[in-house]
Amino acid sequence: MLISFEGIDGCGKSTQARLLADALRAEGRDVVLTREPGGSPGAEEIRRLLVEGAGERWSPETECLLFTAARRDHLERTIRPALAAGRTVVTDRFADSTRVYQGAARGDLRAMVDRLHDLMIGIEPDRTFVLQIEPATGLARGAARGGAEDRFESLGLSFQERLATGFRALAGDYPDRVRLIDGSGGQAEVAARIRAAL
Ligand code: TYD
Repeated sequence: MLISFEGIDGCGKSTQARLLADALRAEGRDVVLTREPGGSPGAEEIRRLLVEGAGERWSPETECLLFTAARRDHLERTIRPALAAGRTVVTDRFADSTRVYQGAARGDLRAMVDRLHDLMIGIEPDRTFVLQIEPATGLARGAARGGAEDRFESLGLSFQERLATGFRALAGDYPDRVRLIDGSGGQAEVAARIRAAL
């Protein structure tokens, strides 16, 4: 299976992706835990171009191409080989992030994002967990974490609110695949909700 975690900045998905990978390994499964943008050496190089620097560094179109390029490398070098070997892949973000982030930056880009996805990626996860938290809580967590990777967080609260709306809408667009998970409470509590949904 390919399982993805999605949500706004600071929603806790990286922690939950790790906890799920650990739990599946403890049950004897062979799990690859990976992330986007990144997840392969080439895609990690593209990641730096995307997450560092000013909020307006790239045009929305260029940004879509860079995220798609990174995802294609991730797919070729990491995801497809792992699935072919019968491993379970848990990824921290996948194509829904491009649909929502780049779609939220400019709504009319969604058609282009979907066409690029069909041309270059062409697969969807078997299950996607969207972790839901208050946008203000997510931003506060991101600020507390610090570091150079704050390009999207620097776009502010109203952007995070648009993202939250976009992620919620995914459940309606892809009802068979996407599960909305309440991300409030302790780590173990959220992990239990995800296991129940899986
Ligand atoms: P990530 O490392 O998941 O950041 P965080 O752990 O803070 O959520 O992702 C880096 C940033 O890139 C994040 O703000 C979301 C953004 N992003 C997109 O805009 N489009 C995409 O396709 C992906 C994968 C990420």
